[in-house]
Amino acid sequence: MKHVLAELEKRRAEARLGGGEKRIAAQHAKAKLTARERLEVLLDEGSFEEFDMYVEHRGTDFGMEKTKIPGDGVVTGWGTINGRTVFVFAKDFTVFGGSLSEAHAGKIMKIQDMALKNRAPIIGLFDAGGARIQEGVAALGGYGEVFQRNVLASGVIPQISVIMGPCAGGDVYSPAMTDFIFMVRDSSYMFVTGPDVVKTVTNETVTAEELGGASIHTTRSSIADGAYDNDVETLLEMRRLIDLLPLNNRAEIPEIDSFDTADRIEMSLDTLVPDNANKPYDIKELILKTVDEGDFFEIQAAFAKNIVTGFGRIEGRTVGFVANQPMVLAGVLDSDASRKAARFVRFCDAFSIPIVTFVDVPGFLPGTAQEYGGLIKHGAKLLFAYGEATVPKITIITRKAYGGAYDVMASKHLRGDLNYAWPSAQIAVMGAKGAVEIIFRAQNGDAEGLAARTKEYEDRFLSPFVAAERGYIDEVIMPHSTRRRIARGLRLLRNKSLENPWKKHDNIPL
Ligand code: HXC
Repeated sequence: MKHVLAELEKRRAEARLGGGEKRIAAQHAKAKLTARERLEVLLDEGSFEEFDMYVEHRGTDFGMEKTKIPGDGVVTGWGTINGRTVFVFAKDFTVFGGSLSEAHAGKIMKIQDMALKNRAPIIGLFDAGGARIQEGVAALGGYGEVFQRNVLASGVIPQISVIMGPCAGGDVYSPAMTDFIFMVRDSSYMFVTGPDVVKTVTNETVTAEELGGASIHTTRSSIADGAYDNDVETLLEMRRLIDLLPLNNRAEIPEIDSFDTADRIEMSLDTLVPDNANKPYDIKELILKTVDEGDFFEIQAAFAKNIVTGFGRIEGRTVGFVANQPMVLAGVLDSDASRKAARFVRFCDAFSIPIVTFVDVPGFLPGTAQEYGGLIKHGAKLLFAYGEATVPKITIITRKAYGGAYDVMASKHLRGDLNYAWPSAQIAVMGAKGAVEIIFRAQNGDAEGLAARTKEYEDRFLSPFVAAERGYIDEVIMPHSTRRRIARGLRLLRNKSLENPWKKHDNIPL
């Protein structure tokens, strides 16, 4: 017994050392934590249970049989975040650059299978160079198995990927199939092939940061959903996100004690929308004044800023918010905004998170750049996502709801459950000036006549009442009572039951 215990201690110590002191020091020198240190920050203290610490790779080519390191470059197991179970794996860059061997893949697959079987979220911390080159197809096969499990778990349990170092190949493709990707600024990179391969193949000279740094992926490619300044901040934000998410697609929405009152009145919202319809205002002010304690977790904050997406709580329960942002491009819907919001709406629907939509949208963005870029297809994604969603949907039009964008933004026609408008709402095919110029084209030149027609159009359509007369708007509400209305609405809709017709799956325009 004593002998076994001594052996156990020795083996554990060896495994904990990963690639050795020198490589750990190199990791620290880059302001990065080691895999185990990261898990300590991510999980509740003392809650981590590690699996497969002694697994070694089975590679024999290129001298690999002489380089076996217990754990083989990935730390796996489970633990809790504020008491709720999560499965985790953390790539250990100090061991073969965190690359994935057949044995390493087996460890991740075990965790994926357990997470799915036990219906709990899985979080992967990535810091790795993809399939282990020395193992060839055995490693590729390993990644294929991981990908397959990503697909099967999609929509069943939340899957979160955190990119915490240079990542390539399978270590970016597996994250790409998960629900959310977060990065660490200045120390994490994502690319299918690194700068050296780029140079060889295309003769293009590019740095890792330019090719796949956090700023590229949060602002241009939209691969990443957010980025933070360092490892610790990133991991603490992941704890915050997990607190907001249900454990699986059949679990209740998490509920926490809220210090906020459901019927809190916000008088300042009555003056949020400027008198001048062309003047912007910050829709985030409305979101922050609506959610419990002003606590909002934004998704893709730096990309397609003309639409805001993220999670907050009302009466302690998670709600997904989608809101046009008049501060950026007047809140117009373009391809990027449509894709961003569509993906968010689908996540909420998959995990039964109610959706609150704030609408102030002048329409879709016209022009060749958008049309050539597939605006029709991308806009259709958002239309489709709202139309298929069966979760509670509450929509509030604060100002403009023009044209096709009126339909798209969780309108009554797309099974919006509660559709409210502020008195400042304008629901029409387009703004008055454009409308009159088209309808009365023949009278062009008659400035006085056109001004009168414009006024007539404004009086008739630029109010919430034409839509309300038809029942497309359930009620015109005062801005100050928005939170109270939403809270009551969400309570009303808690037992909402709505199912789409059976199908294998839909065919959303991808
Ligand atoms: C084996 C690897 C490795 C890999 C890195 N290492 N990637 N070993 N297989 N895939 C090793 C390095 O040899 C090195 O070992 C150590 O990890 C650290 O790597 P460095 O290159 O020194 O680090 P850095 O300069 O920070 O660059 C990191 C990197 C780069 C950008 C990830 O290593 C890289 O480009 N690696 C190859 C990426 C790649 O092409 N992977 C295969 C993808 S195919 P020593 O002992 O020298 O310190 C794939 C299939 C999936 O994944 C299918 C997708 C659909």
